[in-house]
Amino acid sequence: MPPASTTIVPVLPDQVAGGDGARQIANPLREGLRLERIPEPCTMVICGATGDLTVRKLGPALYNLMLGGFLPPEFSVVGFARRPISDDEFRELLRQGIDQYSRNRPVKPSVWKSFSRGIEYHAGDFSDPGSYADLVKRLDRIDRDRGTAGNRLIYLAVPPILYPEIVKQLGAAGLAETGEERRDAKRGWVRVIVEKPFGADIGSARKLNREIGEVFSESQIYRIDHYLGKETVQNLAVFRFGNGLFEPIWNRRYIDSVQITVAETVGVEGRGEFYDQTGALRDIVQNHALQLMTMFAMEPPVEFMASDLRDEKLKVLRAVKPMTVADVADNAVRGQYVSGWVEGHKVHAYRDEPEVDPESETETFVALKLGIDSWRWAGVPFYLRTGKAMPTRVTEIAVQFRRAPLALFARAGAPQFDPNILAVRIQPDEGILIRFGAKVPGQGLQIRSVNMDFRYGSSFAVDSPDAYETLLLDAMIGDPSLFTRGDESERAWEILDPVLRAWAEGHGGPLHFYGAGTWGPPAADELLERDQRAWRRL
Ligand code: BG6
Repeated sequence: MPPASTTIVPVLPDQVAGGDGARQIANPLREGLRLERIPEPCTMVICGATGDLTVRKLGPALYNLMLGGFLPPEFSVVGFARRPISDDEFRELLRQGIDQYSRNRPVKPSVWKSFSRGIEYHAGDFSDPGSYADLVKRLDRIDRDRGTAGNRLIYLAVPPILYPEIVKQLGAAGLAETGEERRDAKRGWVRVIVEKPFGADIGSARKLNREIGEVFSESQIYRIDHYLGKETVQNLAVFRFGNGLFEPIWNRRYIDSVQITVAETVGVEGRGEFYDQTGALRDIVQNHALQLMTMFAMEPPVEFMASDLRDEKLKVLRAVKPMTVADVADNAVRGQYVSGWVEGHKVHAYRDEPEVDPESETETFVALKLGIDSWRWAGVPFYLRTGKAMPTRVTEIAVQFRRAPLALFARAGAPQFDPNILAVRIQPDEGILIRFGAKVPGQGLQIRSVNMDFRYGSSFAVDSPDAYETLLLDAMIGDPSLFTRGDESERAWEILDPVLRAWAEGHGGPLHFYGAGTWGPPAADELLERDQRAWRRL
């Protein structure tokens, strides 16, 4: 969501740096899709610059922002990590990442030339004050040489265990202080982006908020949940609050239930050690799935300002009916995949993945039933499910509507057809689908469910930006709307705390096994069958 002051302007061909401007303007569907959102000059410091996240996501996102003409000319990147490599080696690492993972690839030499000029590498130890003192000198020099105006965006792309130490060191080196605080005109703003997972339970999340809060003010902290940067998630607000058609029916009177699915075909992808300590509840439900739920269920904010939006999202989380440890067995199902086939490939059992405990009890699948005790949603169950090694990769929110009041057509001999569905497909095939009953042409009365399908790809003929592009740009601009506030993150942990405790204490239902390439254990189906409902077949 753009900040209120953002203007939307069509971009002229020559404004698209290195882009295919002529083609873009020739296509009227692409007009008006670009925002005039050039951030102020700044330097981005990436802590953990040689890691996977930087190579797969951050490098490509910055490159695409550059390609789209969104970065200011005075922009610089400093990679900060322990590995002793040169500036050129770091540039090469980023370049390879872009060639492999960027949505626009391979790298365009002309764009790369100007982009790479602003990239430096700072080798240092995250626990050594000397590394930070040197970093300060480097950043001051970059400000002088490249005109980056003392504005700094610091990205913590490191394992969460390092956050407290790095934040403490940044504070001690004066790197968290803004120009205003220091009364120093040469210093500008300072913002810190913190990757997920933000804590591992309510206790550690509170502690982390406290530790970061001792150094940075809340307005400087950008807790990332990349799902909020996805186009379709942002479109949820436009869809609901911009269209008179849907808002009136977005409530318990018309909606029977809501299903949120985050299904992945991948397993743990070489992240066995991390995943085995984390599990699906912490990895996906606490953040991505609950954020999707809040965006879906929130009340309209007074204005599209970060504070209003985040207040409304928090209200949804606060209204989630508290579960007790004893309720967990009835409302949550956990599963772990055993070997099977996904998309024609043989997949080993989770317990056979490298760095996973062969007797691991970690869940790779979760199904959960939640209720939101608010005037809008009381009595409407929200079913959430997520899993690794599922048959297809799909993230969607599906709304099931109440049936028409009379089964009129059943009396005329037509069998009951499926309830109406509105499905917001977050990925892939981003779009919105409405499913309703229609008469099969011909004599007699036969009714079948049909789809009305809007697809981003065909309607806009434009590539959506990657979530990290949107979020990095927002952080540079200073718009925290799509980042999670500290209280939101804590509340999400509170909701899941009984589940985590029950499972850790060995009750709350057994760990069920499911074959890779299936939709989870039968217990997940039973969770809905008990309510006379079924998961949508995807
Ligand atoms: C991350 C999780 O946050 O999201 C991963 O840690 C998961 O386990 C990933 O694979 C999914 O993101 P996306 O954008 O591919 O749906």
